[in-house]
Amino acid sequence: MTYQGLIHRYGQYLDLPAHTKNISLLEGNTPLIPMPRLSKEFGCELFIKFEGLNPTGSFKDRGMTAAISEAVGRGAQTVICASTGNTAASAAAYAARAGLRSIVLIPEGKVAAGKLAGAIAYGAEVIQVQGSFDDALSLVVEITQKTPIALVNSINPFRIEGQKTSAFEICDVLGSAPDWLCLPVGNAGNITSYWAGFKQYQKGLPRVLGVQAAGAAPLVLGHPVDKPETIATAIRIGRPARGEQALEAAQESNGSIIAVSDGQILSAQRILASEGVWVEPASAAGLAGLIAESAVGKFDAKGKKVVVVCTGHGMKDPSIISESFQSPKVISANYESLIQVVGV
Ligand code: F0G
Repeated sequence: MTYQGLIHRYGQYLDLPAHTKNISLLEGNTPLIPMPRLSKEFGCELFIKFEGLNPTGSFKDRGMTAAISEAVGRGAQTVICASTGNTAASAAAYAARAGLRSIVLIPEGKVAAGKLAGAIAYGAEVIQVQGSFDDALSLVVEITQKTPIALVNSINPFRIEGQKTSAFEICDVLGSAPDWLCLPVGNAGNITSYWAGFKQYQKGLPRVLGVQAAGAAPLVLGHPVDKPETIATAIRIGRPARGEQALEAAQESNGSIIAVSDGQILSAQRILASEGVWVEPASAAGLAGLIAESAVGKFDAKGKKVVVVCTGHGMKDPSIISESFQSPKVISANYESLIQVVGV
């Protein structure tokens, strides 16, 4: 049978109420891409779980199919979220599919172009907040407590249910859980979901390496960050809603949560692109963390299976390219100029 989306594929493992009405864009079923060069370098079997290949270009679609399906089933008319961009685009798309009104709050000027464009294209009412993601999240929590508007941030338990499916897919492809799972951590919904998913699926447990950006690393510092800053705007979050659960996942799995610099993130982004996988900066944090831990001898990957989760597509954040990669050359339209730059 052709693929019919995550609720159809894994619904039996998801704790969704009976009123749930399946709204799907055939999300999930993303590739686990072997990375031969990185594998050789680290002496392990390294795979990228490329979540940028979901319908709206990020892993958020896994949780959103569940959250919107539940909201529609219970009769919600309007959904709202705070977002650094990807949740906004995903909520907008699934709300559009279901015929719901969607409102998204984003930190003013801090959302990558591809995400903002998506949210607008799918018809969300986009509101820019003069503050951080954390400020926007408190506002949507308040409005959903006082009105019938449905909250679709990862505080919503159905988001976590949906996002567990990536752990299931990894186990189904590899035959068991990997030895290590490396992923970026922002609001901490995703690390919470993976850990819950691996525990539930009973195909073994990975050690989990969660990676924050140094300028937005409350879970590493042990306290909230009032003014988070990082080039990886997706994870520019100072008060993660599921911070406790993220720390639990790291501890229970005998893993850790670490911070990497923006420079390390951009370098990992270039390394991934050089092996054919272009991801947005936040999505490169998992690999950046693996490289950083290996360099100090804390990541023993030899002979192990390692999955690095790349959460969003590179096309989400095109502006970063001019800072981090080489700009295209310009030549006059003649053969001599061409052969000169080609150099053969
Ligand atoms: N990677 C990307 C590309 C993201 O967009 C996010 C979160 C994360 C990683 C971190 O995941 O929050 O579950 O720990 N983006 C949210 C958003 C906050 O609004 O799109 P997390």
